[in-house]
Amino acid sequence: MRVGDATLVAARQQAARSDFLLDEPMRIRRCALLRLESREETRFDLSALLSGDTGVLSHMRWLAHAPALQAEVEVDAAEVALLGETSPSDWVSAAPLRMRHGAARVRRLLRAGLLVGSTAAWAHWRREDERVRALHWHGAAADYHHASRWSGIDAAGEVEDAGLHNAEGLRRAYGVPPPMLHERADGGAITVLPSAPRAAYDELLDARTSCRNFDVGRMLPLTGLAQVLKRTFAERGRVRGADDFDVLKRTSPSGGALHPTECYLLARRVDGLAPGLYHYLPARHALQSLPMDDARILADAGRHPAARGKTALDYLAWIAVGGQQYFAEAHALCVLAPRFYRNFWKYRRHPKAYRVCILDVGHLSQTLLLSATEAGLGSFVTAAINEVDIERAFGLEPWSESPLAVCGIGPRADRMETYELDPNRRAWPR
Ligand SMILES: Cc1cc2nc3c(=O)[nH]c(=O)nc-3n(C[C@H](O)[C@H](O)[C@H](O)COP(=O)(O)O)c2cc1C
Repeated sequence: MRVGDATLVAARQQAARSDFLLDEPMRIRRCALLRLESREETRFDLSALLSGDTGVLSHMRWLAHAPALQAEVEVDAAEVALLGETSPSDWVSAAPLRMRHGAARVRRLLRAGLLVGSTAAWAHWRREDERVRALHWHGAAADYHHASRWSGIDAAGEVEDAGLHNAEGLRRAYGVPPPMLHERADGGAITVLPSAPRAAYDELLDARTSCRNFDVGRMLPLTGLAQVLKRTFAERGRVRGADDFDVLKRTSPSGGALHPTECYLLARRVDGLAPGLYHYLPARHALQSLPMDDARILADAGRHPAARGKTALDYLAWIAVGGQQYFAEAHALCVLAPRFYRNFWKYRRHPKAYRVCILDVGHLSQTLLLSATEAGLGSFVTAAINEVDIERAFGLEPWSESPLAVCGIGPRADRMETYELDPNRRAWPR
């Protein structure tokens, strides 16, 4: 954020607070974070086909998305114009807005929570909006966060139905991919680099292979799981940055040294650990069990024939990893979920902050994968996850704390039934 912006924001916050003291006249501003989506919807129309057209009719709709809303809200072009010209920062008098756009239109957007009113009647949406503002999301990052979250998607099933689940299918559908290697046409002389002798660390790096074949007949020893969690997520030290500002040291780097990422665990076949949901506590190197609402987890399961007969925990594992059964079979799934508000406390409405959270998760996942490999365990990371289902099951508020990736850990099977990329046979044969 630029320095001038901070002063401006503080002044506006001050102005906003004093406005709440006034009940009249009514003032209005736009909700803090708003995404207006121009969505194309297509349908097949036989009469259009018979009259020589393609038969596919498309229809455009405006949809408004905002963090405080339970669902998207359809708006018309006039409402888009009203939202577009209303400041999300400055409170303006309601009267001219009503005159220009009509009282009914202004009221509808107030009721939807897209406009925020200063009077007592609109206290609910104002509180919701204040809660969102206090999280300090950057607008474009919030749009992306919202747009990239899935709910109840069987991605594996969809990819298979489309014939895109293997290299041949991809090649058929998309043609030749961009080349595997890249050399610059404008490059100069090439200096071949020396190779250091192979060390144990090379063996470890080469043995890491994304595991899609877990042995569901064996248990994961608690010591193995504990070691991986300790090496990846535990506190390795701490520094007091300032009063009430402690900084965690972990084995992975973290933007701003804030380490916002939490590890939530779905355990099923771990020796000495009851199947269930847990939260890893980095300072105590401990797991805290979390409540589980089976009915809530299974609420949408009926949509998926592949989920029939699964227990709540099995269904959650399956839907968490986007319907990828070979990943769902991992003995323990680790949900990597940043507490965005910890990072955004420092990087307020910062265009890089969300990227930093994503990169943090990438670092942690690689540490987890290497730690699991070192422990002789299979592991994977995936971003093809149903964030909404995971949030619901673990009780996470999506704008405060939300999963960006899921890792799995467990003993490898003796036979490879699902493909793994292991050309030098470091993980296979076993
Ligand atoms: C961010 C990320 C997401 C991934 N998501 C999936 C996934 O959804 N399904 C899958 O089978 N593999 C997934 N993978 C694993 C990659 O397919 C794998 O890394 C790649 O095939 C190379 O194989 P290797 O990890 O064994 O070297 C993901 C990897 C990364 C880094």
